[in-house]
Amino acid sequence: MPRASDSDAEAVRVLGTGGLVIIPTETVYGLAADAGNAEAVAAIFEAKGRPRFNPLIAHVADAMQAEAVALFDPRARALAEAFWPGPLTLVAPVRDRTGVCDLARAGLDSVAVRVPGHARARALISAFGRPVVAPSANRSGRPSPTTFADAVEETGFAARAAINGGPCAVGVESTVVSVLDGRVALLRPGSVTREEIEALVGPLARFGEGGGEGHRSPGRLTLHYAPDAPVRIEAADARGGEILLGFGPGAGDPRWSLSPTGDLREAAANLFRRLREADRERPTGIAVSPIPAHGLGEAINDRLRRAAGYVG
Ligand code: TXA
Ligand code: MG
Repeated sequence: MPRASDSDAEAVRVLGTGGLVIIPTETVYGLAADAGNAEAVAAIFEAKGRPRFNPLIAHVADAMQAEAVALFDPRARALAEAFWPGPLTLVAPVRDRTGVCDLARAGLDSVAVRVPGHARARALISAFGRPVVAPSANRSGRPSPTTFADAVEETGFAARAAINGGPCAVGVESTVVSVLDGRVALLRPGSVTREEIEALVGPLARFGEGGGEGHRSPGRLTLHYAPDAPVRIEAADARGGEILLGFGPGAGDPRWSLSPTGDLREAAANLFRRLREADRERPTGIAVSPIPAHGLGEAINDRLRRAAGYVG
């Protein structure tokens, strides 16, 4: 039976009593909890089967609330002003160690914060009045859910409330950027692109050269986004019992295409949903057409490489 959506008031009540809530965002659905409640946060790690070394993102209603949690330098502030509300997460030194508890930060001295672009998510956080941690609502290692039904299927068993905000417009998780020790590094590509960030703050530190420990993203160390069927990328066509997720005109069955016209935004919005749909057909494998490397293509290729088992 499909699960009905709860009201915002009910979701706020559940958060306040240490329960978990499925929330919509513009990127992917999240499994949310009070960021300051260690027991609630522990329940998130438990529900997802997520290793505890992998910190969570604190979701806040506006930049002011973000600066109460984290210490922003002028470049962090410039990024926040340019891209919030929206699919950008900033990693900065932690200011408030209780509002976002140690477990949520995996014990780090930095904290990840973002102001989601989805109005319903912001309204919920505003009404709650405190930061809310929300990893993607999938079980650890699986593709992120981009529809209410997929989110409920993944972690609905652990949520005492769930909010249906429609399909996610962006479809890939937020861009994660660290601003630490005067350096800016891209930890996870997303729909706010490398090009857009560099236009604002200059050249990014290269991954792994970001100036020390803080610029690592622990979540990037594990296999991710993988459906059950093996994924083969940069594929010219389907082999044997594979389903081909095409990109651009003439690439396979249009029903399975990520974007028949070759549009990167459309492909991102469709990516995880198509991987899940293809997986349900129990194919021998999922093949995916080549995707351009620039702009949003960097994020799509990143997720596909991980789904195909190339980590790091
Ligand atoms: O779009 C999104 O960001 C979604 C929606 C629900 O907001 N959330 C999401 O959360 O993708 P999650 O937990 O699946 O990914 C968070 C990423 C992980 O790679 C984690 O390692 C990294 O952010 N991260 C969190 N805090 C960090 C920190 N202090 N330093 C470095 N990386 C951090
Ligand atoms: Mg995730």
